[in-house]
Amino acid sequence: MSESLIDVRVAHKETLAQDTVLLELVAADGATLPPFEAGAHIDLHVRMGGTSFVRPYSLCNAPGQPASWQIGVLREAQSRGGSAAVHAWLGVGSSLQVSAPRNHFPLVPGSTAPGAHSLLLAGGIGITPLLAMAEHLHRSGAHFELHHSTRNLARTPFVQRLAAAPYAAQVHRHLDDGAASQRLDLPALLAATPAGTHLYVCGPQGYMDHVLGGARQAGWPENQLHWESFGAAVLTQQGDQAFDLVLARSGRTIRVHADQTAAQALQGEGVYLATSCEQGVCGTCITQVLEGVPDHRDQYFTPEEHAANDQFTPCCSRAKGAALVIDL
Ligand code: FES
Repeated sequence: MSESLIDVRVAHKETLAQDTVLLELVAADGATLPPFEAGAHIDLHVRMGGTSFVRPYSLCNAPGQPASWQIGVLREAQSRGGSAAVHAWLGVGSSLQVSAPRNHFPLVPGSTAPGAHSLLLAGGIGITPLLAMAEHLHRSGAHFELHHSTRNLARTPFVQRLAAAPYAAQVHRHLDDGAASQRLDLPALLAATPAGTHLYVCGPQGYMDHVLGGARQAGWPENQLHWESFGAAVLTQQGDQAFDLVLARSGRTIRVHADQTAAQALQGEGVYLATSCEQGVCGTCITQVLEGVPDHRDQYFTPEEHAANDQFTPCCSRAKGAALVIDL
Protein backbone atom coordinates (compact mmCIF):
# COMPACT_ATOMS: atom_id res chain seq x y z
CA MET A 1 0.00 0.00 0.00
CA SER A 2 1.43 3.41 -0.81
CA GLU A 3 0.00 6.80 -0.15
CA SER A 4 -0.73 9.40 -2.78
CA LEU A 5 1.96 12.03 -3.02
CA ILE A 6 1.81 15.76 -3.65
CA ASP A 7 3.94 17.43 -6.32
CA VAL A 8 5.71 20.46 -4.91
CA ARG A 9 8.36 22.95 -5.96
CA VAL A 10 11.04 24.64 -3.87
CA ALA A 11 10.04 28.31 -3.82
CA HIS A 12 12.72 29.54 -1.42
CA LYS A 13 15.95 28.23 0.09
CA GLU A 14 17.87 30.02 2.77
CA THR A 15 20.80 29.28 5.06
CA LEU A 16 19.56 29.37 8.63
CA ALA A 17 22.79 28.45 10.40
CA GLN A 18 25.93 26.43 9.82
CA ASP A 19 24.85 23.21 8.04
CA THR A 20 21.16 24.12 8.24
CA VAL A 21 18.89 25.37 5.47
CA LEU A 22 15.25 26.37 5.30
CA LEU A 23 13.23 25.10 2.34
CA GLU A 24 9.88 26.61 1.46
CA LEU A 25 7.66 24.32 -0.63
CA VAL A 26 4.63 25.29 -2.71
CA ALA A 27 2.24 23.13 -4.72
CA ALA A 28 3.66 22.56 -8.22
CA ASP A 29 0.31 23.36 -9.84
CA GLY A 30 -0.30 26.43 -7.70
CA ALA A 31 -3.11 24.69 -5.83
CA THR A 32 -3.67 25.08 -2.12
CA LEU A 33 -1.65 22.75 0.08
CA PRO A 34 -3.50 20.64 2.65
CA PRO A 35 -3.71 22.20 6.12
CA PHE A 36 -1.52 20.93 8.95
CA GLU A 37 -1.48 20.99 12.73
CA ALA A 38 1.39 21.95 15.01
CA GLY A 39 3.82 19.04 15.36
CA ALA A 40 3.06 17.56 11.92
CA HIS A 41 5.70 16.36 9.48
CA ILE A 42 5.87 15.53 5.79
CA ASP A 43 7.99 12.89 4.07
CA LEU A 44 10.20 14.16 1.26
CA HIS A 45 10.45 11.71 -1.65
CA VAL A 46 13.50 12.76 -3.61
CA ARG A 47 14.71 11.08 -6.79
CA MET A 48 17.81 12.42 -8.47
CA GLY A 49 20.67 11.00 -10.43
CA GLY A 50 19.61 7.40 -9.96
CA THR A 51 19.32 7.88 -6.20
CA SER A 52 16.08 8.04 -4.29
CA PHE A 53 15.27 8.42 -0.65
CA VAL A 54 12.44 9.28 1.68
CA ARG A 55 13.01 11.39 4.77
CA PRO A 56 10.60 12.98 7.27
CA TYR A 57 10.82 16.68 8.13
CA SER A 58 8.67 18.61 10.58
CA LEU A 59 6.73 21.59 9.29
CA CYS A 60 7.94 24.70 11.08
CA ASN A 61 5.78 27.53 9.84
CA ALA A 62 2.60 28.64 11.54
CA PRO A 63 0.06 25.81 11.25
CA GLY A 64 -3.30 26.05 9.58
CA GLN A 65 -3.58 26.39 5.83
CA PRO A 66 -0.53 28.40 4.76
CA ALA A 67 0.38 29.09 1.14
CA SER A 68 3.62 27.17 1.61
CA TRP A 69 5.22 24.60 3.87
CA GLN A 70 8.55 25.31 5.54
CA ILE A 71 11.07 22.72 6.71
CA GLY A 72 14.47 23.09 8.32
CA VAL A 73 17.12 20.60 7.20
CA LEU A 74 20.34 19.93 9.08
CA ARG A 75 23.15 18.34 7.06
CA GLU A 76 23.94 15.46 9.37
CA ALA A 77 27.45 14.11 9.57
CA GLN A 78 26.13 10.56 10.00
CA SER A 79 23.44 10.91 7.33
CA ARG A 80 22.85 8.03 4.90
CA GLY A 81 22.92 10.68 2.18
CA GLY A 82 19.44 12.14 2.62
CA SER A 83 20.15 15.43 4.33
CA ALA A 84 23.37 15.98 2.37
CA ALA A 85 21.44 15.44 -0.87
CA VAL A 86 18.72 17.87 0.20
CA HIS A 87 21.41 20.50 0.81
CA ALA A 88 23.24 19.84 -2.43
CA TRP A 89 20.50 18.99 -4.91
CA LEU A 90 17.41 20.89 -3.92
CA GLY A 91 17.43 24.55 -4.91
CA VAL A 92 14.84 27.12 -5.86
CA GLY A 93 12.73 25.64 -8.66
CA SER A 94 13.51 21.99 -7.84
CA SER A 95 10.55 19.63 -8.14
CA LEU A 96 9.87 16.78 -5.77
CA GLN A 97 7.06 14.84 -4.20
CA VAL A 98 6.00 14.90 -0.57
CA SER A 99 3.46 13.07 1.52
CA ALA A 100 0.48 14.81 3.05
CA PRO A 101 1.18 16.04 6.60
CA ARG A 102 0.93 13.45 9.36
CA ASN A 103 1.03 14.31 13.02
CA HIS A 104 2.62 11.92 15.52
CA PHE A 105 3.49 14.77 17.86
CA PRO A 106 0.33 16.79 18.48
CA LEU A 107 -0.34 19.25 21.26
CA VAL A 108 -2.73 17.66 23.72
CA PRO A 109 -6.36 18.72 23.59
CA GLY A 110 -6.76 21.43 26.20
CA SER A 111 -3.30 22.92 25.63
CA THR A 112 -4.94 26.25 24.83
CA ALA A 113 -7.52 26.08 27.63
CA PRO A 114 -7.40 28.80 30.33
CA GLY A 115 -4.70 27.98 32.87
CA ALA A 116 -2.96 25.39 30.67
CA HIS A 117 0.83 25.63 30.33
CA SER A 118 3.15 23.96 27.83
CA LEU A 119 6.91 23.53 28.13
CA LEU A 120 8.63 23.20 24.74
CA LEU A 121 12.21 21.87 24.88
CA ALA A 122 14.27 21.72 21.70
CA GLY A 123 17.76 20.45 20.98
CA GLY A 124 19.32 21.78 17.77
CA ILE A 125 17.22 21.22 14.64
CA GLY A 126 14.62 19.54 16.89
CA ILE A 127 13.16 22.99 17.28
CA THR A 128 11.21 22.70 14.00
CA PRO A 129 7.99 21.04 15.27
CA LEU A 130 8.16 23.13 18.43
CA LEU A 131 8.24 26.33 16.36
CA ALA A 132 4.88 25.40 14.86
CA MET A 133 3.61 24.65 18.37
CA ALA A 134 4.85 28.01 19.66
CA GLU A 135 3.09 29.79 16.80
CA HIS A 136 -0.16 27.97 17.51
CA LEU A 137 0.00 28.47 21.28
CA HIS A 138 0.81 32.15 20.85
CA ARG A 139 -2.04 32.72 18.41
CA SER A 140 -4.37 30.96 20.84
CA GLY A 141 -3.26 33.12 23.75
CA ALA A 142 -1.98 30.04 25.62
CA HIS A 143 0.87 30.02 28.14
CA PHE A 144 4.10 28.37 27.05
CA GLU A 145 7.88 28.58 27.27
CA LEU A 146 10.30 27.52 24.55
CA HIS A 147 13.84 26.49 25.47
CA HIS A 148 16.34 25.94 22.65
CA SER A 149 19.67 24.26 23.38
CA THR A 150 22.44 24.24 20.76
CA ARG A 151 26.20 23.83 20.58
CA ASN A 152 26.97 27.45 19.69
CA LEU A 153 25.39 30.48 18.06
CA ALA A 154 26.75 29.71 14.60
CA ARG A 155 24.90 26.38 14.62
CA THR A 156 21.65 27.81 16.00
CA PRO A 157 18.82 28.02 13.46
CA PHE A 158 15.92 30.48 13.59
CA VAL A 159 17.79 33.06 15.70
CA GLN A 160 16.35 36.04 13.82
CA ARG A 161 12.86 34.58 13.52
CA LEU A 162 12.65 33.94 17.25
CA ALA A 163 14.12 37.34 18.12
CA ALA A 164 11.42 39.00 16.00
CA ALA A 165 8.58 36.75 17.17
CA PRO A 166 5.81 38.36 19.22
CA TYR A 167 6.49 35.66 21.80
CA ALA A 168 10.27 36.35 21.94
CA ALA A 169 10.07 36.95 25.70
CA GLN A 170 8.97 33.34 26.15
CA VAL A 171 11.99 31.98 24.25
CA HIS A 172 15.16 30.99 26.11
CA ARG A 173 18.39 30.06 24.33
CA HIS A 174 21.03 27.82 25.89
CA LEU A 175 24.44 27.57 24.22
CA ASP A 176 26.83 24.77 25.15
CA ASP A 177 29.78 27.15 24.73
CA GLY A 178 28.10 30.02 26.59
CA ALA A 179 28.33 31.17 30.19
CA ALA A 180 27.28 28.68 32.84
CA SER A 181 24.50 31.05 33.92
CA GLN A 182 22.61 30.59 30.61
CA ARG A 183 22.87 26.78 30.38
CA LEU A 184 19.66 24.79 30.72
CA ASP A 185 19.13 23.96 34.39
CA LEU A 186 16.61 21.20 33.83
CA PRO A 187 15.88 20.29 37.47
CA ALA A 188 15.26 23.96 38.33
CA LEU A 189 13.09 24.48 35.27
CA LEU A 190 11.02 21.37 35.94
CA ALA A 191 10.59 22.33 39.58
CA ALA A 192 9.45 25.84 38.68
CA THR A 193 6.86 24.72 36.12
CA PRO A 194 3.20 24.77 37.18
CA ALA A 195 1.62 21.41 38.05
CA GLY A 196 -0.24 19.88 35.12
CA THR A 197 2.17 21.31 32.51
CA HIS A 198 2.68 19.20 29.39
CA LEU A 199 6.29 18.85 28.24
CA TYR A 200 7.18 18.47 24.55
CA VAL A 201 10.73 17.59 23.53
CA CYS A 202 12.46 17.05 20.20
CA GLY A 203 16.15 16.84 19.43
CA PRO A 204 19.11 14.46 19.34
CA GLN A 205 18.58 11.21 21.23
CA GLY A 206 21.02 12.16 24.03
CA TYR A 207 19.18 15.43 24.62
CA MET A 208 15.79 13.74 24.67
CA ASP A 209 17.04 11.03 27.04
CA HIS A 210 18.36 13.77 29.35
CA VAL A 211 15.08 15.72 29.33
CA LEU A 212 12.74 12.75 29.62
CA GLY A 213 14.94 11.04 32.22
CA GLY A 214 15.06 14.24 34.27
CA ALA A 215 11.30 14.69 34.10
CA ARG A 216 10.63 11.08 35.12
CA GLN A 217 13.10 11.39 37.98
CA ALA A 218 11.28 14.53 39.10
CA GLY A 219 8.06 12.54 39.20
CA TRP A 220 6.35 13.90 36.09
CA PRO A 221 3.50 11.62 35.00
CA GLU A 222 4.07 9.80 31.74
CA ASN A 223 0.93 11.26 30.16
CA GLN A 224 2.43 14.76 30.43
CA LEU A 225 5.56 13.82 28.48
CA HIS A 226 5.57 14.02 24.67
CA TRP A 227 8.48 13.55 22.29
CA GLU A 228 9.41 13.05 18.70
CA SER A 229 12.50 11.41 17.33
CA PHE A 230 13.48 11.16 13.70
CA GLY A 231 16.53 8.99 14.15
CA ALA A 232 16.91 6.09 11.76
CA ALA A 233 14.91 3.04 12.79
CA VAL A 234 16.80 0.22 14.46
CA LEU A 235 16.40 -2.54 11.89
CA THR A 236 17.76 -5.41 13.94
CA GLN A 237 19.16 -5.36 17.45
CA GLN A 238 20.67 -7.63 20.04
CA GLY A 239 18.05 -9.91 21.54
CA ASP A 240 15.92 -10.09 18.41
CA GLN A 241 14.38 -13.53 17.93
CA ALA A 242 13.62 -15.38 14.72
CA PHE A 243 9.94 -15.68 13.84
CA ASP A 244 7.73 -16.98 11.04
CA LEU A 245 5.73 -15.04 8.51
CA VAL A 246 2.73 -17.07 7.35
CA LEU A 247 1.52 -15.81 3.98
CA ALA A 248 -2.26 -16.21 4.10
CA ARG A 249 -2.83 -16.09 0.35
CA SER A 250 -0.29 -18.69 -0.66
CA GLY A 251 -0.03 -20.65 2.59
CA ARG A 252 3.77 -20.34 2.52
CA THR A 253 5.73 -19.92 5.74
CA ILE A 254 8.90 -17.84 5.62
CA ARG A 255 11.39 -17.76 8.46
CA VAL A 256 12.74 -14.35 9.49
CA HIS A 257 16.09 -14.93 11.13
CA ALA A 258 17.25 -12.84 14.07
CA ASP A 259 19.74 -10.87 11.99
CA GLN A 260 17.46 -9.98 9.08
CA THR A 261 14.35 -7.87 8.60
CA ALA A 262 10.99 -9.29 7.59
CA ALA A 263 11.33 -7.46 4.27
CA GLN A 264 14.73 -9.05 3.64
CA ALA A 265 13.33 -12.49 4.44
CA LEU A 266 10.37 -12.02 2.07
CA GLN A 267 12.48 -10.61 -0.73
CA GLY A 268 15.08 -13.34 -0.21
CA GLU A 269 12.38 -15.94 -0.86
CA GLY A 270 11.25 -14.15 -4.00
CA VAL A 271 8.11 -12.57 -2.52
CA TYR A 272 7.50 -9.16 -4.08
CA LEU A 273 7.34 -6.38 -1.50
CA ALA A 274 7.66 -2.72 -2.46
CA THR A 275 9.98 -0.76 -0.19
CA SER A 276 11.38 2.73 -0.32
CA CYS A 277 12.85 4.29 2.82
CA GLU A 278 13.61 0.94 4.49
CA GLN A 279 13.55 2.65 7.88
CA GLY A 280 9.90 2.79 8.85
CA VAL A 281 9.21 6.30 7.63
CA CYS A 282 7.40 6.29 4.30
CA GLY A 283 4.68 3.62 4.60
CA THR A 284 5.49 2.05 1.22
CA CYS A 285 5.88 -1.47 2.65
CA ILE A 286 2.76 -1.49 4.86
CA THR A 287 1.34 -5.00 5.03
CA GLN A 288 -1.89 -6.14 6.67
CA VAL A 289 -1.54 -8.39 9.72
CA LEU A 290 -4.27 -11.01 10.09
CA GLU A 291 -2.98 -12.82 13.21
CA GLY A 292 -0.21 -12.23 15.71
CA VAL A 293 1.17 -9.09 17.35
CA PRO A 294 3.78 -6.98 15.53
CA ASP A 295 6.77 -5.45 17.31
CA HIS A 296 6.34 -2.00 15.75
CA ARG A 297 9.58 -0.11 15.11
CA ASP A 298 8.41 2.38 12.52
CA GLN A 299 7.84 6.10 12.81
CA TYR A 300 4.98 6.08 10.33
CA PHE A 301 1.95 4.91 12.28
CA THR A 302 0.33 6.81 15.12
CA PRO A 303 0.20 5.20 18.59
CA GLU A 304 -3.46 4.35 17.91
CA GLU A 305 -2.55 2.63 14.66
CA HIS A 306 0.18 0.68 16.42
CA ALA A 307 -2.27 -0.42 19.10
CA ALA A 308 -4.67 -1.78 16.47
CA ASN A 309 -1.94 -4.29 15.43
CA ASP A 310 -3.64 -4.94 12.10
CA GLN A 311 -0.78 -3.72 9.89
CA PHE A 312 2.98 -3.39 10.14
CA THR A 313 6.06 -2.21 8.25
CA PRO A 314 8.18 -5.27 7.38
CA CYS A 315 11.18 -3.10 6.49
CA CYS A 316 11.89 -2.61 10.20
CA SER A 317 9.14 -4.12 12.39
CA ARG A 318 9.10 -7.67 13.71
CA ALA A 319 6.81 -10.03 15.67
CA LYS A 320 6.27 -10.15 19.41
CA GLY A 321 5.42 -13.86 19.26
CA ALA A 322 6.47 -16.85 17.20
CA ALA A 323 4.60 -15.87 14.04
CA LEU A 324 2.60 -13.28 12.14
CA VAL A 325 -0.04 -14.22 9.60
CA ILE A 326 0.05 -11.54 6.93
CA ASP A 327 -2.08 -10.68 3.91
CA LEU A 328 0.38 -11.66 1.19
FE1 FES B 1 9.31 2.89 4.13
FE2 FES B 1 8.90 0.41 5.07
S1 FES B 1 9.84 1.00 3.23
S2 FES B 1 8.16 2.25 5.88
